[in-house]
Amino acid sequence: MKPYIYITRKLPEAMIEAMQQKYEVKMWEHEDIPVSKEVLYAEAKKADALFTMLSDQIDEQILTDGNRLKVVANLAVGFDNIDVKTASIEGVAVCNTPDVLTDTTADLTFGLLMAAARRIVEAAEYVKEGKWKSWSPMLLAGHDIHHKTIGIVGMGKIGETVAKRATGFDMEILYHNRTKKPEMEQQLGAKYVSFEELVEKSDFIVCLTPLTPETKNLFSREVFSGMKQSAIFINASRGPVIDEQALFDALTAGEIAGAGLDVFEREPINRDHPLLSLPNVVALPHIGSSSVETRTAMMKLCVENIMAVLEGNMPKTLVNKDWKPFVKA
Ligand code: GLV
Ligand code: GLV
Repeated sequence: MKPYIYITRKLPEAMIEAMQQKYEVKMWEHEDIPVSKEVLYAEAKKADALFTMLSDQIDEQILTDGNRLKVVANLAVGFDNIDVKTASIEGVAVCNTPDVLTDTTADLTFGLLMAAARRIVEAAEYVKEGKWKSWSPMLLAGHDIHHKTIGIVGMGKIGETVAKRATGFDMEILYHNRTKKPEMEQQLGAKYVSFEELVEKSDFIVCLTPLTPETKNLFSREVFSGMKQSAIFINASRGPVIDEQALFDALTAGEIAGAGLDVFEREPINRDHPLLSLPNVVALPHIGSSSVETRTAMMKLCVENIMAVLEGNMPKTLVNKDWKPFVKA
């Protein structure tokens, strides 16, 4: 029997040709609607490989129900949607898509910062709505970016690349991370500070930390109230890293000046989400890595990883480093 690969979303046919030549491949039939739990459970039970989206919860049941699953390849750098511990116990390789999305995600993060600071979305809507009647001295006046202080929480590769963008704007760069990065500090002139100091001193607080039990609700009521009143908060990692109600309250009370959000506690959000009622919030539908070039590279990497594992080799980008290739029968 040929190995069976299930893909949880409709992808362009050209992306999966290489797999179709060697394996039996099935895709969920919709591009914009996630696979249902029932279908995912039923398919996972039969599958040798799962090609998953960050919106799929890959839980213990999925990882233990069948007896063929060898690899889960997630179309994202983040893997908080996957029970990696159980995958390791079950000998299932978990793969993500780091590196190929670093620059693209950093671009979007910095763009979101600029949009929030200079009120770009609000201003564009103002023009489209026919509200522009005259030039006026303080019309849609925003906040400067250049020479301000950016504080990056979560200095992974994306964080470093955002910092690199910030050097072009003559910004002072603070960061907080689990580990210090002396080489990066030297290259970019970034300074390691405590989380508290970063929150207190930054004009722009940029959240890029992965979602883990330690970072869940890291940005709490208390943290927002420790920020400058002129601070702008940017989140491009995962929604649950912030307490969304606390952010809403901080914005409405004027404790901070604005926010740019690419991610939310529960996605997708709909138009009556309270944060969308605030003019000083720029909200995006989780598009950090979404350029044609990068999403294509991410899909290719998932395909390569799946094929490597099914052929008894090490995948390129393995999350659970303790995993070992299968010995070919
Ligand atoms: C997107 O959020 C990703 O983790 O790649
Ligand atoms: C992961 O979060 C990264 O920064 O690459």
